[in-house]
Amino acid sequence: MSLVYPLPSQRSGPGAKEINLENCLGKTVLVIGGGGREHAIVDALSRSPQVEKIYCAPGNAGIGEQAFNVPLKDTDVEGLKAFALENGVDLTVVGPEAALAAGIVDTFRAAGLKIFGHTRAATAIESSKEFAKELMEGALIPTAAYRSFSDFEEALSYVLSRPFPAVLKYDGLAAGKGVVIAQDEAEARAALADMLLDHTFGEGRVVVEDFLTGPEFSFLCFVDGERVYPMPLSQDHKRAFDGDKGPNTGGMGAYTGLPFITEEDRAFAYKEIMCKAASAMCAKGLPLSGVLYGGLMKTPQGIKVIEFNARFGDPETEVVLPLLQSDIYEVFEGVATGTPVAEPVWADGVTLGVVLASKGYPGRYEKGYDIAGLELVDAKVYHMGTAVRDGKVFTNGGRVLMVVSGGTDLADARRKVYEEIGKIACDNLFYRKDIAHIAFE
Ligand code: AMP
Ligand code: GLY
Repeated sequence: MSLVYPLPSQRSGPGAKEINLENCLGKTVLVIGGGGREHAIVDALSRSPQVEKIYCAPGNAGIGEQAFNVPLKDTDVEGLKAFALENGVDLTVVGPEAALAAGIVDTFRAAGLKIFGHTRAATAIESSKEFAKELMEGALIPTAAYRSFSDFEEALSYVLSRPFPAVLKYDGLAAGKGVVIAQDEAEARAALADMLLDHTFGEGRVVVEDFLTGPEFSFLCFVDGERVYPMPLSQDHKRAFDGDKGPNTGGMGAYTGLPFITEEDRAFAYKEIMCKAASAMCAKGLPLSGVLYGGLMKTPQGIKVIEFNARFGDPETEVVLPLLQSDIYEVFEGVATGTPVAEPVWADGVTLGVVLASKGYPGRYEKGYDIAGLELVDAKVYHMGTAVRDGKVFTNGGRVLMVVSGGTDLADARRKVYEEIGKIACDNLFYRKDIAHIAFE
């Protein structure tokens, strides 16, 4: 299929900015993905004076107001390559790990296309728990003690030699379901049997690691080989309900301005974790060229790594990127081409965002409910799972919208967000009322 879109001057929609032709360098960007994270990336790109036209594949209803949605799947690497070549795309920015793991960066580079994201091999820092653990061990990056196994009996006897709870991680992309915290022998046996005898997720190995305690937080950095440009720290809320109760989700809200992290903590995490990981990847011949996401924990023994991801976090991106004052196109292009860029500048103040999800999420839920009042909201509204029919927006996923506001402090940002959410009318949404609760305890 060949998809050729209207000329740049035809970019339209409520979110499209006036283009200043004098300093507009007319860049065309393709963003891969279609969730809230990609909406925040598109929103940041639309603030760049260099960017004239944005495509997003597949995009969503909200993204469609700021970019041209392209009906191609994020893992349709050949289709996306053909689209980029046919439509004069200057730079592609990859959101989801599935596209990275499908080798989109390798394929685009081989075709001479500029792309922001890691190669398939470097994506192992996220897709293989064992690779990430070995990398950390080799570079002396603080993380939980571990061993990895393919044999059920050996894994079980190691688990029994350590204190409970035990953390069991399937070694591969398992859509967030590959981690089990086993409280006792029976739970450990069942989980290990699932992973190593029944191969529920595939023929992988299992990493067994010690259980750590403390608040978790996310450290996203733009990484170009040895160059590591930090973004503001953020914290996700993974459980479905208030008080961090209920099942794990993709994330129900996030904020920046973490009250429990000191400047020393941040400096330590930057130098001893993020920079060391970037260097270790270079030493392995797998330099990073996208976002490195440190899922970190502040334990009583200091800051340690829970996991690395090879991409922007969702919903973290939606609270982090609104603070960026520099031109994000310059950062993406610099990283994509291995060229140093000026240290990105971030606004003072904090941001806080709340996810509105379909009732029943993360379990079974219905789609297709009308959403009204979005035009009244005086905050950023990033669409996560929406679609549009006859000009009307309706729910089309588990996580549907994220409302994000800035403020001088968290109390200010939180008050504004919940006030604005009150203007959105939909019969089938729920949301947490306690985002950033740790700041108010
Ligand atoms: P992961 O996919 O590795 O991020 O693990 C998913 C979640 O499990 C994390 O966000 C933590 O809440 C929890 N978790 C993972 N590893 C540990 C650990 N070593 N100690 C305590 N909790 C953990
Ligand atoms: N917020 C969790 C993630 O993006 O993996």
